[in-house]
Amino acid sequence: MIVRRVETDPGYEVVVGRDMLGRAAEVLPPAATSGRIVVISDENVAPLYLPPLRAALRGACSDVTEVVLPAGEEQKTLARAEELYGVLYERRTTRHDTVVALGGGVIGDLAGFVAATYLRGVRLVQVPTTLLAQVDASVGGKVAVDFRSGKNHVGTFYQPLAVLADIDTLRTLPAEERRNGAAEVVKYALLMGEEMLTPVEAALGGPEPAGAHDPVGLCDEQIVAACVGYKASTVAADEREERGERQLLNLGHTIGHAIEAAGGFRHHSHGEAVGLGLAAALWLSQRCTGLGPDDAARGERLLASAGAPGRLDDVDADLVVEMVSRDKKASGGEVPFVLLAALGRPVRGVHVAPELLVEVVAWLRER
Ligand SMILES: NC(=O)c1ccc[n+]([C@@H]2O[C@H](COP(=O)([O-])OP(=O)(O)OC[C@H]3O[C@@H](n4cnc5c(N)ncnc54)[C@H](O)[C@@H]3O)[C@@H](O)[C@H]2O)c1
Ligand SMILES: [Zn+2]
Repeated sequence: MIVRRVETDPGYEVVVGRDMLGRAAEVLPPAATSGRIVVISDENVAPLYLPPLRAALRGACSDVTEVVLPAGEEQKTLARAEELYGVLYERRTTRHDTVVALGGGVIGDLAGFVAATYLRGVRLVQVPTTLLAQVDASVGGKVAVDFRSGKNHVGTFYQPLAVLADIDTLRTLPAEERRNGAAEVVKYALLMGEEMLTPVEAALGGPEPAGAHDPVGLCDEQIVAACVGYKASTVAADEREERGERQLLNLGHTIGHAIEAAGGFRHHSHGEAVGLGLAAALWLSQRCTGLGPDDAARGERLLASAGAPGRLDDVDADLVVEMVSRDKKASGGEVPFVLLAALGRPVRGVHVAPELLVEVVAWLRER
């Protein structure tokens, strides 16, 4: 079991380990189990992990109930949030009670948003069950639902009371979901440098054909905890994304988000889009921030080993370029990029000339 503290206000612990569900009652802070508990989960996760979690929580709390929703991003709506407010209302939930989000990032974001807003905030515990949610979504306090065409358009910052990341749950994930999370792990390795590159390279093995690899080696306590540690430190430095440190986490995401959006969120999963976005960031870093060719090649090898797509298919290149400039993080018409001066040495706020953007997207299509 590895504990990483997130020094926000208030701070909290992320506990990463095996059999965390079974040990929930002993590991969670007393405040999490002192009131009533409503567990929110989805139809894929609940049959597998609700029984052991429920049994453990009942050891500390006599009133544990649950809500099981269908799975998928379509659930992240205000309508679903309103339904959940209804459940909390019926169950007479108070601010001393706890919402437990058991599932991937969708459940974490939705249940987190509901917990943040119901009665101006009830207690929240995140129990992430996907690699992506363990290394990224469950830590940092961003909670949201989608609105019209805007992903995560309505939301807030709301730190949980605790995060319980049970590595054992990652075994039942479909391989494509592990690949999704793998792209984020590669992002952390590029940001952190040698200390993380070596273990991630060892866990992944050699390059694999795109889309074929199952990066199961990344479902590892040390690796997940290292990612959480990095995210925790950027979040602590910039809790509400105002100062800039948190922007580091956007490495590969400026072009990645644009690829997702240009494909109408159907052609590429988030992980595939981030994999391509990271390849683009390596290419741009060589031209804008002096990344050496050996470092770039090492980063490319890592992406290939994580099963990232080789090239951008099926998505209009012009639309990708347009989407970059529409990026919500754009300020005053300029899109600041996070690039690398070397592996482990990120630089934020880099201006990338429009011609170079067109060129890198063309390269992604042709390489
Ligand atoms: N809040 C943040 O900081 C943040 C960061 C990144 C992503 N996100 C959000 O996270 C969401 C994506 O999260 P995700 O990739 O976890 O997707 P997800 O929650 O949809 O989970 C992916 C699929 O795996 C299933 N699943 C989950 N755990 C499982 C397990 N252990 N075994 C078998 N199946 C399991 C789910 O039912 C679902 O079908 C997006 O909505 C995104 O916006 C939020
Ligand atoms: Zn991401």
